[in-house]
Amino acid sequence: MTRRRILTGDRPTGRMHLGHWVGSLQNRVRLQTTHECFFIIADLHTLTTRPEKEAIAEVPENIREMVLDYLAAGIDPEGSVIFVQSAVPDVAYLNLILGMLVSLPRLERIPSIKEMAEAAHLDVLPFGLVGYPVLQAADILLPRADLVPVGRDNVPHVEVTREIARRFNHLYGDVFPEPEPLVSDVPTLPGIYGKQKMSKSLGNAILLSDSPEEVDRRVMRMYTDPNRVRPDIPGRVEDNPVFIYHDIFNTDRAEVDDLKERYRKGRVGDVEVKRKLARAINDFLDPLRERRRALEAHPGLVDEILDAGNRRMREVAAETMERVREAMGLTYFGSMG
Ligand code: TRP
Repeated sequence: MTRRRILTGDRPTGRMHLGHWVGSLQNRVRLQTTHECFFIIADLHTLTTRPEKEAIAEVPENIREMVLDYLAAGIDPEGSVIFVQSAVPDVAYLNLILGMLVSLPRLERIPSIKEMAEAAHLDVLPFGLVGYPVLQAADILLPRADLVPVGRDNVPHVEVTREIARRFNHLYGDVFPEPEPLVSDVPTLPGIYGKQKMSKSLGNAILLSDSPEEVDRRVMRMYTDPNRVRPDIPGRVEDNPVFIYHDIFNTDRAEVDDLKERYRKGRVGDVEVKRKLARAINDFLDPLRERRRALEAHPGLVDEILDAGNRRMREVAAETMERVREAMGLTYFGSMG
């Protein structure tokens, strides 16, 4: 039985946080045992909103941090392929071809495009930003992936990918599987101040690479029930960030139940709830820290892993592009080889 193929990944924005673990990393760690996984670090996608040289200069460090977080979280580079988008030129070639198979209005209708433009304070849409989902389609179709684990916001991009794959197969013959989005049903982790989702740029994150002291500090600053101004008045456990985190990260269920019960009755202070939460999060992060330390003891390891991943992806890409050119009849005047 050949394992079904997965492609997913991230733009290299730097260190990852607990929200990434909850929303995607834990799922990837699970999926890599049953699927053939390709993880893309989509550096070319960052150019769609930040093409400046100063922004590009930050990318290598961000890639390194992200790979360390992947590995610390338990992604196994022996079983999975981790690669950098810009190290696989066929991504750009396939992007060009796929761009012929989708209309401009279709892409302009996707809400995330305008949102990204607004977030980046762009008043006109660069051609490349409108093409963001096409480039993502190239990422997905290049390894001929069957499944694409993504957040809800990215589902429209996978839908465009499916339409493009269908159009390609209709015009030229079957080359691509129609990849399915795989949306995990876990709710988004709120940041430490509640309300907004956890995000490094909002300053409300706990990073996977935070030290135990940093975790203590951040947890102590967390929002709780805003109406509970004294520890002896009953509090609300539901949609209370500290208890949302307890539910996810504290493996001592009896302790969590006890804290909730006393919280509801006004018999426990925030400090105790938070101390126990900080301990639980640190227990959760300890194995990640240990793996990270082991990795950091081998300088050059990240480069080796990426070299191997890039090489493997280029092989798979060459195979796909061979089939693409063959199917299209784009082979006059010789092969690529
Ligand atoms: N668009 C994804 C994001 O929001 C990153 C990404 C690029 C991606 N290419 C991908 C995700 C392919 C899944 C599959 O950051």
